[in-house]
Amino acid sequence: MSSKMICAGCGWTAPPLDPRPFRCPRAGTDDVDHVLARRLESASPVPFFDTEPNPFVRYRTFTHAWHTAQAIGMSDGEFVDLVRALDAHVGGFVVTPFEQRSGFWVKDETHNVAGSHKSRHLMGLMLWLLIAERIDPSVAHARLAIASCGNAALAAATIACAAKRDIDVYVPDDASRSVITRLEELGANVTRCEREPGVAGDPAYLRFREAVARGALPFTCQGNENGLVIEGGQTLGWELASQLAARGTALDHLFIQVGGGALASATIAGLEEALALGVLPRMPRIHAVQTLASPLRRAYDRVVDRGIDEAIAHRSQFMWPWESAPHSIATGILDDETYDWAAVLRGVLSTGGSVITVSEDELREANRIAGEGVSATGSAGLAGALSLRGGDESVGILFTGASVAGQSRDDS
Ligand SMILES: Cc1ncc(COP(=O)(O)O)c(C=O)c1O
Ligand SMILES: [Zn+2]
Repeated sequence: MSSKMICAGCGWTAPPLDPRPFRCPRAGTDDVDHVLARRLESASPVPFFDTEPNPFVRYRTFTHAWHTAQAIGMSDGEFVDLVRALDAHVGGFVVTPFEQRSGFWVKDETHNVAGSHKSRHLMGLMLWLLIAERIDPSVAHARLAIASCGNAALAAATIACAAKRDIDVYVPDDASRSVITRLEELGANVTRCEREPGVAGDPAYLRFREAVARGALPFTCQGNENGLVIEGGQTLGWELASQLAARGTALDHLFIQVGGGALASATIAGLEEALALGVLPRMPRIHAVQTLASPLRRAYDRVVDRGIDEAIAHRSQFMWPWESAPHSIATGILDDETYDWAAVLRGVLSTGGSVITVSEDELREANRIAGEGVSATGSAGLAGALSLRGGDESVGILFTGASVAGQSRDDS
């Protein structure tokens, strides 16, 4: 098969037709950063120039699900039918706009399914599950699980509901009532998780881990928990590459807001694949943007001294939870760890980019410029880009999430 799931930390490769190629079996057994990534042996650039509006149809031949479907005897037409059938219940994925606004190139995800880019990660994963259940029927009956109280949970519940799958959403006990109500309307089973005295770590995340240990499928937006979620997010990078190629232009810089890191990891991977296929003339410099509470910046400073390979071999010396509970208007990028840090830093380093931290004032100013309809997390990349103001280089940003009735719902 020409698509494989390989661990970026140790090189372990999932057996062909493994229905759950989500996590490296060595993860947690040592200090190596084990994260599975999809690797294609060969691919054609043709999908980048396809005019099909649904990205999960247009770029299907880049997905592990499609390659696996071929390997088990499904035809391309059957696969397309399966994508369209699910998409009809989801509400319709279409390539999102990419246009110039206020001197920046903006990829606008605010009208995407469930109001943010997060649905891309989970649509990709659901398509995988629909193929995997043909290999192992138990996949069809396993519950889905996610720890989130914001866009990721809304996206997960939306896609799970469309696929008529049971989903458990673990949220902290201070999660907003309106998000919980919406999740319950979508049919999700929401569990509030209280902090237990003397137990460190996010209680919702701990309960999620327990559920996965009991056999639930990790239906999450974190690559370390499920390497396959990155692939769905890559549709954003592939679209960007198509849109740049169509305009015959290239970006000098791309600013990406980073919480858990899946968005940046996926965008970088998508652009790199486009570069490898000759669709892009060069990579933009990747700038990862975080709030002043920045575990990624802390890791980056150490990686600059010691190198990325050493960092991947000694994760705990580079990435650990932020010690104090951070606060910001950009609630969606407050993850206490950057779970996909290694892939993001690789992209930053290989492109000559940077890790930028922005203040609350800068986040507010960016959100004002972004205008109504974009959440503070959604415009956080712009806050980073404004620090470059004045140059004549072409700068890309991602408006990743919508605000709802003036209220942010970004919390990851
Ligand atoms: C609107 C929005 N943008 C960006 C992010 C950051 O994505 P990631 O956690 O994958 O870094 C999030 C995460 O919650 C989000 O909700
Ligand atoms: Zn591994």
